[in-house]
Amino acid sequence: LGQGPLTGRRVIVTSGPTQEPIDPVRYISNHSSGAQGTAIARALAASGAEVVFVTGPANVPPPEGVQVVRVTTAQDMLEAVQGALPADAAVFAAAVADWRVAQVAGSKMKKTAGEMPTLRFAENPDILASVAQMGAGRPALVVGFAAETDDVVANAQAKRARKGCDWIIANDVSVGTGTFGGADNTVHVVTDQVVEDWPRMGKDAVAARLAQRMAAALNG
Ligand code: C5P
Repeated sequence: LGQGPLTGRRVIVTSGPTQEPIDPVRYISNHSSGAQGTAIARALAASGAEVVFVTGPANVPPPEGVQVVRVTTAQDMLEAVQGALPADAAVFAAAVADWRVAQVAGSKMKKTAGEMPTLRFAENPDILASVAQMGAGRPALVVGFAAETDDVVANAQAKRARKGCDWIIANDVSVGTGTFGGADNTVHVVTDQVVEDWPRMGKDAVAARLAQRMAAALNG
């Protein structure tokens, strides 16, 4: 572990997509690469934090020097986060599937010519909101992400209030920005007081700056 402004602080980071099974061989997921969450976990560890890295099946390997908890579904991720509490701060960078298949088939669904299956969905738990609103034992600093394509800042402000977190890192994931799976990110940091527009920079640079800002907030 590096020594730094977060030495002695415990931070939970969620990252990557979740995978929601349909049957034993099929699932529903999304394009999250896990790159930004991984960079954040690395930067927090480099600043001295003890990091619990709760990750869905990502495209990039987890960083060194963190405790890795691998999960598949949103429900697994919620349990892993609850099991990792208490913490001084939590960063929710995972792209959690909003829905899971209500009834997962126990055997592979068979294809029947001309007959299409219909999937019924159930709502997944909102991990960020549940931690942000937990009351006693809540981490002092709860940071969420918002991937938006339109009205990025306004949507992020509304999301911050709705979820009850301290900060939202809003990123523009419009087609053409290359944010999904790319090396760079353009983010806006939305707090209850301010909106900071950060210039487009590498995901590592976003992570380093976020770790610095988190340390400043936690250390008062
Ligand atoms: O509502 P939306 O999915 O846009 O919110 C994004 C933020 O909420 C991210 O920080 C994401 O990690 C978190 N989230 C979560 N659990 C969910 C859905 C989103 O923790 N089920």
